[in-house]
Amino acid sequence: MAVKTKQPLLSDHVDARPVAVDPDEAAADRNAIVQLDPDHPGFRDRGYRKRRNQIAEIAMKYHPRDPIPDAPYTPEEHQVWKTIWTALAPAHQKHACAEYLASLRRLSFDPDRIPQLREVNEKVQAISGFRLEPVAGLVQPRVFLENLANGVFLCTQYIRHHSTPLYTPEPDVVHEIVGHGVTLASERLAELNRLFGEAVKRTTAQDALDRLSRIYWFTIEFGALRENGSLKAYGTGLLSSAGEMEEMRDAEVRPLDIDAASRQEYDPTHFQPILFCAESFEAMYSTLRAYLIDW
Ligand SMILES: [Fe+2]
Repeated sequence: MAVKTKQPLLSDHVDARPVAVDPDEAAADRNAIVQLDPDHPGFRDRGYRKRRNQIAEIAMKYHPRDPIPDAPYTPEEHQVWKTIWTALAPAHQKHACAEYLASLRRLSFDPDRIPQLREVNEKVQAISGFRLEPVAGLVQPRVFLENLANGVFLCTQYIRHHSTPLYTPEPDVVHEIVGHGVTLASERLAELNRLFGEAVKRTTAQDALDRLSRIYWFTIEFGALRENGSLKAYGTGLLSSAGEMEEMRDAEVRPLDIDAASRQEYDPTHFQPILFCAESFEAMYSTLRAYLIDW
């Protein structure tokens, strides 16, 4: 998710979602559930804003474990998905780690149509027990991370504006499904997500929570590893953006050091200039797993 807004929309955490207006603004305009920045690509598109509100409403009315209603995507939005896949498919073959590619095959997306969360859940739940649940409003890091302990990934359902198919200023359904949905269809990556949630549940101090959020960022979101000598991605922020994967070659690649990652600041509004890289998938999995269990 390469981002170029002036305002750091994702400033706080791996996945804080700035999609709900504050209660005062909502009272001023009852139809405006979703707030877009004036420089958001969809700001002037009434139809897009209306759809964003409809999709936010699905999440607001949603009760955990109920079937998730389908989002009303337009043909134009399915075309956005198609355009993204045209860029992502070759980038995945070049830059994605084997574990991700195996999960991607298990989910077998239609490159012409945005999958509904309901459909993705059927497959992901059968593999790892994880399910995606729609959220409409800002999710605090603690809420987002603690839900992982229960096998729940809080998930946006809208797609980015069609005028910028390869760019989104906020995590959209492409990042959620192509990034997180696919990695949660890997038993080992799903387990690490769960362990993050459990570690957060044992954490009370804000400073410790911030450290865990940074570890999540540099592993689950932007983690890299070596496979047959090549740099490969297992992080969802890389795997859901052809641009981010292309930029990996210019990043400063540091050996995976989880303590160092926990102290490393990051700027979510640019391509990531620093990546922590494990020697192999197995090395990443065992190191991170032990670290989170000991947390
Ligand atoms: Fe994410």
